[in-house]
Order: sequence, then C-alpha cells, then structure tokens
Amino acid sequence: MSSISSSMSEAPIGVFDSGVGGLSVLQALQKRMPNEDFLYLADSLRVPYGSKPKDIVVRYTKEAINFLFQEGVKAIVVACNTASALALPDLNVGARVFGVIEPAVQAASTYPGRIGVIGTVGTIASQSYQKQLAQAGRHYWAKACPLLVPVVEEGLSQDPVADLLCNYYLQDAPADLGGLILGCTHYPFLAGAIARVLPTVPLIDSAEPTTRKLWNYLQAEDLLARRQQGSCQHFVTGDPEVYRNLARRLGSEPGLVQRVELGSGS
Ligand code: DGL
Repeated sequence: MSSISSSMSEAPIGVFDSGVGGLSVLQALQKRMPNEDFLYLADSLRVPYGSKPKDIVVRYTKEAINFLFQEGVKAIVVACNTASALALPDLNVGARVFGVIEPAVQAASTYPGRIGVIGTVGTIASQSYQKQLAQAGRHYWAKACPLLVPVVEEGLSQDPVADLLCNYYLQDAPADLGGLILGCTHYPFLAGAIARVLPTVPLIDSAEPTTRKLWNYLQAEDLLARRQQGSCQHFVTGDPEVYRNLARRLGSEPGLVQRVELGSGS
C-alpha cells in the first residue's frame, strides 16, 4: 500500500444534512465504523431545504460538499434526501459522494406489497423515489409531510404534537403497505409517533443501507481507517449552542461545535 492511500485511509468521512436529521445516519455510521473520524456538517442556518426551490438546494449542497472536501474528507454521505434528490443528479460529484435514496429503495426490495414513501415537499415532488420504485416494478404510495422537519428541529419529536402531525399526514395511508420508507433523515427521530399511527407497517430507514454501501466502497478501495478509536467534529452554519442541545436530545454528543460560513447566505 502506498503512503498516499495509507494517509487517505485515515482521513475523515464527511456527513452533511440541512440540520440534525443526518445525525440518524451519523449514528449508524459510527456504530458500524467506530474507528473512523467523522466531520458532521449541519446547514442549520438555512434549514429546512425541503420547501426551497431546486436551484437553491443545488447551490447549498454544492457549497457543503466543497466545504467538506476542503476539510480533507475521503468520502461524503449526503445524509439528506432533499439534497440527494434535487442536487446530486445535477452535480458532478464522483464516486466518493453517497446519497441516501438509492440505498433506501434497495432496502425496500426485501419488503412485500406496496411501498410507502414519505419525505419533504422537494423530495416527493422530485419523483426520485417514485421513479426508482416504478423501475423496480413496485407499486407505491407517496406523501409529502412538510411540518415534520420543523418538529424535529424544534426538539419536539417526543411531544404530543409529533403524534398529532404524524396522524394528520398518515391517517390516509393505504391499508396494504408492506413497508414505509422514511424518505427524510429527520423522520427516524419520529419513528415512535409514526409507528403509533401505522403499528403493523415496517419502517425502512436509509441509515443502515447507506452505511453498508459506504463500508463496501471504503473496503474495496482500501480506505478503511486503521486507528483504534475514531472521533467526530461538528460544524454548523447556525447557532452552535442551539445545535449542541438539540443533538444531545437526539442521542449524539457533539462536543465542540464550530460555526462556519458556507456561502453568501450563511
Ligand atoms: N433531512 C433532510 C432530508 O432528508 C431534511 C430536509 C429539510 O431540510 O427540509 O430531506
């Protein structure tokens, strides 16, 4: 192994979301790869992305990816369905950048019957999931749930308001769903409230299949870290203290949180 690939293997993995949703993916990544270093970037000043026009999401995503590569990451997980759906197809990102949509659709292939997918307005309007599910020969039901991201960002995922909104959005779900794709990385933090509305429907989360895909890539490229214990550094475009408190409530301990500027709008 050359010294270049040896030092590259010890470089961190970048994980990016508009806010705290990507922590659901980061937690799966850290569990599977405890010896990797991670850089988590939350564009918390500009969250939510789900209600913004495509060209804005493309610009923000490009800025985030550029920032993480400038920080020297060896790979990036775009832990945001909205950015994966609206921006990644337009950006020439290469093999080192991983979205969350394809892994979720692949994970859905093991569930029978009609597949449900819920996500932001941007993700559902993009038809990304619907097209991939149709290509796989699956019947689907898709619904945008725009108020669920703000609930998580406000730290209300365990509050009765989460039950109220999940009931509002999901009460008309068809009875024959074989699985429901959580097509927004904020939604795993609402899994309890979602399951109370649809108690018999398995929830399909992109975190595990995305983690597996990244691990397979790093192993194939001989890029898995060799250190004993990894770390994680958190960057935000908004208020670091607000982010730290919220991340803790969602099961992550961010330690030092650094404020960064990504573009003219942050
Ligand atoms: N976690 C992002 C996603 O998966 C949140 C979207 C938003 O910022 O609206 O779509």
